[in-house]
Amino acid sequence: MANKIKNKNEWAVVTGASKGLGYCYCEELLKLGYNIIAVARDTTSLNILHEKYPNQDIKMLNYDLSDSNNCYQLFDDVKSENITLLINNAGYGVWGYFSASNLEQEMNIIDLNIKALHILTKLFVQHFIDQNNGRILNIGSLAAFTPAPVFASYYASKAYVWSLGVAINTELKKTKSSVRVITLCPGPLKTDFWNRSSNQKDAKYHSTIKVMKTTTYARKSLKRGLKTKRKNYIITGRVNKLVKILTKFAPQSCVLSSVYNYQKKRK
Ligand SMILES: NC(=O)c1ccc[n+]([C@@H]2O[C@H](COP(=O)([O-])OP(=O)(O)OC[C@H]3O[C@@H](n4cnc5c(N)ncnc54)[C@H](OP(=O)(O)O)[C@@H]3O)[C@@H](O)[C@H]2O)c1
Repeated sequence: MANKIKNKNEWAVVTGASKGLGYCYCEELLKLGYNIIAVARDTTSLNILHEKYPNQDIKMLNYDLSDSNNCYQLFDDVKSENITLLINNAGYGVWGYFSASNLEQEMNIIDLNIKALHILTKLFVQHFIDQNNGRILNIGSLAAFTPAPVFASYYASKAYVWSLGVAINTELKKTKSSVRVITLCPGPLKTDFWNRSSNQKDAKYHSTIKVMKTTTYARKSLKRGLKTKRKNYIITGRVNKLVKILTKFAPQSCVLSSVYNYQKKRK
């Protein structure tokens, strides 16, 4: 049956759009009437959404964003469209003891989780300030709030994402800009992230807490991320909020031991 959603004539750029959380954000944005520019190394999975939402446009751009040149190229490709939203979502981790984990992969997550996000945030913040309209949602993680033995570089990369975003958003508010950079901090989600991050086909997925469905997280976090005027970052879900409070008030040695025990179990 033809979809009756009204096209907003606004474009949203979503990185890491081919699966997991990014794919869910694309579908939620299409339901809200956005046109989508979907970016990943392989975007063929987006064809299904094309058929499901015929009234909206979906442009698919195959870029490896861990190459900085592709970030600049992406901006050049899309800047003439009426873009009002960027979701910097592409990211992964390198699981394992630091003494044994792969240095090349760790440099690659710095290129993707930190450098690509930083470059795109800079280019789009400037563009959005010029057009006096626009919002960036950077996908951080609860991982931003504590160091993590056995998953060190990933958690450190998310601490960067959170710190950068909160600082920029504060600048924007202080200078009375309408532009916002909001950091969304998911807790664990069942996606391919765990396989890629541990170089396994069926990574053991340990969670002592009930995990929110990825589609539910995408819908709820997007709603809040698009709406908030005052908040710098958003944690969605009661359990995730409780985890954040614990990382703040529990003694750091307890937090580090718990994270160590949680992360070391993946194999
Ligand atoms: N899953 C969790 O538990 C969890 C928790 C907190 C935060 N997060 C964060 O949520 C975000 C999305 O993760 P996810 O769980 O949805 O993971 P996912 O299912 O593995 O999806 C990752 C997406 O990023 C894309 N991507 C990976 N490397 C890329 C590159 N070099 N250039 C361009 N695109 C690339 C992938 O597409 P291609 O492979 O086609 O490039 C895919 O679309 C990440 O930033 C992650 O850190 C995840």
